[in-house]
Amino acid sequence: MSQRFYITTPIFYVNDVPHIGHAYTTLACDVMARYKRARGFDVAFLTGTDEHGQKVEKAALANGETPLELADRVVKRFQSLWEKLNISNTDFIRTTQERHKKGVQHFFREVQAKGDIYLGEYEDWYCTPCETFWTEKQLMDNCCPDCGRPTEKIKESSYFFRMSKYQDQLVRHIEENPDFIQPRSRRNEILNFIKDGLRDLSISRTSFSWGIPVPGDEAHVIYVWFDALTNYLTALGYPQDESGDLAAFWPACTHIIGKDITRFHTVYWPTFLMAAGLPLPQKVFAHGWWTVEGKKMSKSLQNAIEPNMLIDKYGVDQVRYFLMREVPFGLDGDFSHSALVHRINSDLANDLGNLVSRSTAMLSKYFGGALPAANSQTDVDDNFIARFPAAIATFDQQMEDLAFNKALQTLWSLVSAANKYIDDSAPWALAKDESNRERLGSVMYNLIEAVRLIGLLVTPFMPDTGEKIRKTLSLPETDSIQGQDRWGVLIPGAHIEKATPLFPRIES
Ligand code: MSP
Repeated sequence: MSQRFYITTPIFYVNDVPHIGHAYTTLACDVMARYKRARGFDVAFLTGTDEHGQKVEKAALANGETPLELADRVVKRFQSLWEKLNISNTDFIRTTQERHKKGVQHFFREVQAKGDIYLGEYEDWYCTPCETFWTEKQLMDNCCPDCGRPTEKIKESSYFFRMSKYQDQLVRHIEENPDFIQPRSRRNEILNFIKDGLRDLSISRTSFSWGIPVPGDEAHVIYVWFDALTNYLTALGYPQDESGDLAAFWPACTHIIGKDITRFHTVYWPTFLMAAGLPLPQKVFAHGWWTVEGKKMSKSLQNAIEPNMLIDKYGVDQVRYFLMREVPFGLDGDFSHSALVHRINSDLANDLGNLVSRSTAMLSKYFGGALPAANSQTDVDDNFIARFPAAIATFDQQMEDLAFNKALQTLWSLVSAANKYIDDSAPWALAKDESNRERLGSVMYNLIEAVRLIGLLVTPFMPDTGEKIRKTLSLPETDSIQGQDRWGVLIPGAHIEKATPLFPRIES
């Protein structure tokens, strides 16, 4: 039986249309899902939309539509973008779906049955853009300490979750599982936050109705974060497990999120799960935020980068590569068109694109596209070949650590080594003398084999490019790396096409 791997994106609010920040989270999950699949795992990859709550209700009202009309319209924008970005999710959950609503109510009842939910009165402040409760002391100049926007005072009857009860258990869990919250800096931040003291959490609202009713008390709707976080379970069929997915994929789970929602995923969610008696997910990784040309992306600045436009202009794999390569996963980064163009022209057109076109063009010119055998190896070849297993082991570790930009750097060290190998072995000079024919054949075999391995490993990042390389080399269709990631898989005599240029240069 193959190992299981479950990866999730946050579910996106439908009050906003997708921008590159959203695309980034989803893309990172896709790269990981593809990589794990290629490594033989049975992968569940979930994304979706967060459609309830005051923020969505307000946005719908402002647009003169119902919240569901708004959600139905915006969800299509997300779904079509994921298709265009080549996202290989296996499920898409909407919090307005029956399967989700039923699961959330069940989850609520489970926690209630534990005695961890009680009715009280909430009297403090609320930030609608963040859908977060704050005490007066936590506010900064009366505004939300997270996003800086105005908060509103609310006083209403509310169900509370006994989060305080789980403080010690949560600290212990985080301390005993150093990989639970990543990167480390976030883990320390959260530990400090918890050690400051956990308060009970208000988990229902009565002043609006766009949400899932509290079971048995329909005057309340369930707090949108309690509702939203539960999507990770309801998508697996919780509480039923007819498909077997719940048992198969929970808790073998990695949640990828943006750093702004770390507290919800590493404090609220785990304590909810503890109360419901369910195991905690294995890992929560919080990535950084993208700014644009040095500025925060915002509606008022109208500077949000629209991914569809980028993909149309530069190509899907180019955008995927840039987002994963430019910034260490976990840190903030800045988007600029010039940085994107630079990456495309240097890393893709010059380095990888040239390697593939030069190698296949020479093979076609010198051997009519029939792969020769490597019968004449020298130290130069041995050193070149030896780089591959070492780099692949490093690459695998970096992928496991979600260090995408490092994994790409490792891969590009192979691209550079292969380009240097061409320059050092100068096939064009060998081709001038028939007595070098066997040597020339070895160089060409090694080069094409290097292209194959690079194409294989680059596929989770750039699926179309991987596919083009695979077709150029007449390799059978498979998305598996298993058994393919060793030197010498290509069989002499194989027919190799001359590749068409993979990445056109962008003239600025
Ligand atoms: N609905 C909640 C998540 C619920 S998960 C149970 C939410 N939605 S969101 O649409 O506002 O944000 C979704 C994700 O997009 C978050 O992980 C957030 O960090 C990410 N990003 C939004 N803007 C971003 C950038 N500028 N840069 C990088 N990621 C950003 O929060």
